[in-house]
Amino acid sequence: MTRGAQGKRVAITGGARGIGRSTAEALLRAGAQVVIGDIDTALVEETAAALTARFGSTVLGLPLDVTDRGSFEQFLDLAAIELGGLDVVVNNAGIMPTGRFLDESDAVSDRQIGINVRGVIIGCKLAAARFTEQGHGHIVNLGSIVGIEGAPGIAVYSATKHAVIGLGSVLRQELAGSGVTVSTIAPGFVRTELIAGIKPNALIQRVAMVGPEDVAQAITAVIGSGRPGLRYVPRTAGGILAVLRLMPEAARHRISGAFGLQSVVLESDENARAAYRNRTESTPAVSPVAGSPVIESETQRPER
Ligand SMILES: NC(=O)c1ccc[n+]([C@@H]2O[C@H](COP(=O)([O-])OP(=O)(O)OC[C@H]3O[C@@H](n4cnc5c(N)ncnc54)[C@H](O)[C@@H]3O)[C@@H](O)[C@H]2O)c1
Repeated sequence: MTRGAQGKRVAITGGARGIGRSTAEALLRAGAQVVIGDIDTALVEETAAALTARFGSTVLGLPLDVTDRGSFEQFLDLAAIELGGLDVVVNNAGIMPTGRFLDESDAVSDRQIGINVRGVIIGCKLAAARFTEQGHGHIVNLGSIVGIEGAPGIAVYSATKHAVIGLGSVLRQELAGSGVTVSTIAPGFVRTELIAGIKPNALIQRVAMVGPEDVAQAITAVIGSGRPGLRYVPRTAGGILAVLRLMPEAARHRISGAFGLQSVVLESDENARAAYRNRTESTPAVSPVAGSPVIESETQRPER
């Protein structure tokens, strides 16, 4: 009988809220040990304290900026010291700015590429080096269904998630035989702050919308089974995408249009997204050494 995720020592990026926090909860419930890191230093400590109180096993919440190699290295080192080693790294931290491609500033494009792509690449390099040396380990990256079929209003975000899915597919091959497993989780629409103000129609809600606890459950199952490769959440969305992928691009776009995917982001409620935009487009950077936040000045903030 498999022990599932029980006893696994797991580091999760972006663990202060949303899918990262739910994943920590699901793993703790399954008997794993968890350390979470986040750029939101106050909230990550608060979340860690709440999880510790709820599950009775100490959860460390650490400052982390995934775009900074030094910060990421320090996070994994401290996590390994705390847990007595590391078996799994979940590259979950990510942001999703929305709006028309031509209206997006270069700073906002760069920020998503930095966090969603560079951060995942750094996380994979650091985890793979550690896991190759110890002869075992599991990397779990957060992709998205828009990393297969993108949507207008999130062109650069869709591109970053294509990159994450492509990276996972190649690493699965390149690291095969080294004892390192690579999995990619591709959720549909997940009820977190990331989709604030986005109102999927009834059809999308039925076939592609889930709660963060559903994604957390899938991640926990993948960690427990040690299964590599791409896993959609919900599976229905994966089934539809599998059919769409066989079609010519123009036909695919007609169908995604009929589903409402082409307008759902462009028609989002900007007022309801204001708090999310403010948080993700101007979050303070984390100092890799001291772990103390360095606040960007107004002039460094991306202009909107
Ligand atoms: N919510 C969705 O609909 C959805 C769908 C598909 C994929 N995803 C992916 O799932 C992941 C988690 O998304 P979520 O919905 O939980 O978002 P969220 O905004 O609720 O949580 C993301 C967390 O990442 C942290 N973070 C941001 N930049 C960081 C950095 N530089 N270093 C460290 N931490 C950082 C944030 O502070 C936040 O706590 C992301 O990669 C996202 O792209 C989300």
